[in-house]
Amino acid sequence: MGRQRIFSGVQPTGNLHLGNYLGAIRNWVEIQSQFDNFFCVVDLHAITVPHKPETLAQDTYAIAALYLACGIDLEYSTIFIQSHVSAHSELTWLLNCITPLNWLEDMIQFKEKALKQGENVGVGLLDYPVLMASDILLYQTDKVPVGEDQKQHLELTRDIVNRFNHFFAKPDQRVLKLPEPMIRQEGARVMSLTDGTKKMSKSDPSEMSRINLLDPPDEIAKKIKRCKTDPIRGLEFDNPERPESNNLLTLHMLLSGKTKEEVATECQEMGWGQFKPLLTDTVIEALKPIQDKYQAVMNDKSYLESVLRHGKHKAEAIANQTLTQVKAAMGYSMPL
Ligand code: TYM
Repeated sequence: MGRQRIFSGVQPTGNLHLGNYLGAIRNWVEIQSQFDNFFCVVDLHAITVPHKPETLAQDTYAIAALYLACGIDLEYSTIFIQSHVSAHSELTWLLNCITPLNWLEDMIQFKEKALKQGENVGVGLLDYPVLMASDILLYQTDKVPVGEDQKQHLELTRDIVNRFNHFFAKPDQRVLKLPEPMIRQEGARVMSLTDGTKKMSKSDPSEMSRINLLDPPDEIAKKIKRCKTDPIRGLEFDNPERPESNNLLTLHMLLSGKTKEEVATECQEMGWGQFKPLLTDTVIEALKPIQDKYQAVMNDKSYLESVLRHGKHKAEAIANQTLTQVKAAMGYSMPL
């Protein structure tokens, strides 16, 4: 038996923040040696909200460089760009035709983002989860490591697999594999710095709400200095009345590598004035090696291009195989 396959991705919309790192990429790095991994920069998803053509390619490369900077190791993992493998778009069309509209209208992320866009909601935003399902299913993926906010999209992916196999697969022949979500409890939902009850998000209009992986030290210090706190002395985890305390302690715990008990004891008597500089140092120290490696990768464009070229070829070979099986199951004639 070969190793199980992992697939995951991040959109190249703006900078990556601590939520993306702690909810997703850090976990990919930790488990990669046990799996056969495909990590994709999902640039087709990035145009489901208004985007800037001038920066799309550059932003896409930056995310690929950040994957390497965070520790994705090419010995175990393949890095590629979604739009470089056309099977992603093609499978999306085929799956669109078997996905009920009301499944997509029920998606929480669609409802939230559609509200923000008013009358200009594009069809792509509604179809986003079918493209995500196609990403996962093309690689016959076993496990999908993501943050908590993607859980509903993974349930939809599983519903699509069951529906497809029900309509088109013969009993003895599996066409699409049923993937499992992999959501780690800690870090699965990093909250905003300006409101501990809201998810840290790229689309929050306030830059002060998130720490980006490439923020310089003075910016990190400024954001932590101004972040929301409460009037209580002594910090604690898991008190629902104190979401900011729980969120900031969790950041300190995950980025320092200390255990929950160690952090709880370290900070139980601290006031915010004492804790904030401590958290600032922890964040700056944890992000420094990532930022240094990112600069090194971005300075060697030909290396990054060769990684992505290799990734595309490897991904394409697997994706095209699945696509051919799907088309055959649906009754298509094969190209002559
Ligand atoms: P994106 O770019 O919005 O988010 C990338 C990853 O970061 C996680 N995440 C968070 N985790 C914890 N706390 C937060 N505040 C936080 N914000 C974001 C997300 O859960 C995600 O794992 N639709 C996906 C991209 C995608 C994908 C895929 C993922 C496209 N195709 C196939 C897996 C498999 C997304 O939202 O990306």
